[in-house]
Amino acid sequence: MKNILVIGAAGQIGSELVPELRRRGYMTVAAGSGRTPLTAALSEGGPTAVVNLLDADGLRRTVEHYAIDTIFNMAAILSAVGESKPMTAWNIGVNGVIGLLELARDKNLSVFTPSSIGVFGPETPHDPTPQDTVCRPRTMYGITKVAGELLSDYYRAKYGVDARSVRYPGLISHVTPPGGGTTDYAVDIYWKAVEHGRYASPLAEGTRLPMMFMADALRAAIELMEADASRLRHFNSFNVGAMSFAPEDVAASIRRRMPGFELTYEVNPLLQGIAESWPDALDDTTAREEWDWKPRRNDGRHARGDLRKARRKVRAQLSGLMNRKPAFIANAGFLA
Ligand code: SER
Repeated sequence: MKNILVIGAAGQIGSELVPELRRRGYMTVAAGSGRTPLTAALSEGGPTAVVNLLDADGLRRTVEHYAIDTIFNMAAILSAVGESKPMTAWNIGVNGVIGLLELARDKNLSVFTPSSIGVFGPETPHDPTPQDTVCRPRTMYGITKVAGELLSDYYRAKYGVDARSVRYPGLISHVTPPGGGTTDYAVDIYWKAVEHGRYASPLAEGTRLPMMFMADALRAAIELMEADASRLRHFNSFNVGAMSFAPEDVAASIRRRMPGFELTYEVNPLLQGIAESWPDALDDTTAREEWDWKPRRNDGRHARGDLRKARRKVRAQLSGLMNRKPAFIANAGFLA
């Protein structure tokens, strides 16, 4: 891994992955679709490109121009949006991925396309969800992620393409606004806390989901791509866990910094149905064994009661957002 292209650089993961890769010394091209502008940090910190994942020729030109050897493909339509735009979700999640794998086969590229807890469904054991288990999702997002996993393993087995991935839990971050996922309440709640001092949760009390802070998510992607392939048996895709919590747990942690914060519930049946079909917690023993995965910010292995460490991080998260208040206000219309 030397010259990297990050597709979806304007998104939740991409906007933080690019600076982290550059910080680690990798030549990293930040590629957005052109619809959402890249942050100044991204465009001023190194090369950028406009790339449409479905435009194979354009993608090839960018790969050749920058002598790219590794692609992190962070483009996706998340679970809730995917239910209203199923064909777009399919195009990006399946046609986009197979196009990328074809290019990888031709150009000998390594590829990381994240998978998700969205691959699981109601028949999957939920607490904890094993590495190798039933993957019968009920969302279009989940279907594209299962297809992405299978295609990635197929290209690896058949053509030797170096494709690897992790199944991300809900990701907590504050650089970009929430992006239409079921777990995004855990991002939205901070934005609303800062703006209004209260939040109406679309998920019911007690809806526990696996979650992870962005710093761990970035490390998972980079460490897996840096891992010695000869140690890996699973490639697409690894469960990676950090902690699990429900809306009231985040509210409690926000209240420690903002005592007047109010949490109410306006349950959205679509989101609630999706959340109930997903794991409560992930068993990530396989990732720990095969490439030494270890979350740094966790609540002590799936323990619901002990959110002490997580809360400390949540407070840091909230401070980060508060320090970014001008940008937050500029984005308020987007959030409405
Ligand atoms: N965060 C995603 C979603 O909620 C799941 O991977 O759609």
